[in-house]
Amino acid sequence: MPYTWSDFISECKSCKACALSETRNNVVIYRGSVHAPMMIVGEGPGASEDIAGIPFVGQAGKLLDLLLRAYGFEEKDFHICNIVKCRPPNNRVPTPPEAKSCMPLLGKQIRFARPKVIVLLGKTACKYFLNTDEAIGKLRGRFIEKNDYLILPTFHPAYILRNNNERITLWKDIGTVRERMEELDLIARLSDIPSMPQGRG
Ligand code: URA
Repeated sequence: MPYTWSDFISECKSCKACALSETRNNVVIYRGSVHAPMMIVGEGPGASEDIAGIPFVGQAGKLLDLLLRAYGFEEKDFHICNIVKCRPPNNRVPTPPEAKSCMPLLGKQIRFARPKVIVLLGKTACKYFLNTDEAIGKLRGRFIEKNDYLILPTFHPAYILRNNNERITLWKDIGTVRERMEELDLIARLSDIPSMPQGRG
């Protein structure tokens, strides 16, 4: 019997590979489309995500959605997930053993989603996905080609909510992703260039 997406969901929901399983309310697996040309990887669920069982539904998620909408991305274009699928208590950063325990599930998830482009949001996603401690300010904005994926590190939207002066950089990076996806015919060409709303976020 082939291992299906619903087998994968069941495996995630019953996972007890690390201690985060003892304090979670929900396993937070993905939102968007199962198959998508772009995967977006954050750090780990926060309080709102743990309650909803869906990634990026809090304030950072609202900013992420604003960006995706502004650049004309639709649900079929993205698959949003995290390095770890269970909330680290008090929103702390996932530890290396927690991230390592969760990696096999993320690997399976990538094989189902079959993205071409992987956007890494923030330092923690880069640390565990790229195995680097390089500062996000150094890594961001340039594609890394690895195993046939185009990986683009950028700032985490939660960081932008705290450091509004970097918002233009995040907007620019998502624009870079859109442009490359259009060039590769992974997505239709946008007729309008989006304008960044004024204010925060
Ligand atoms: N921050 C993340 O990194 N992931 C979420 O799902 C929500 C906030």
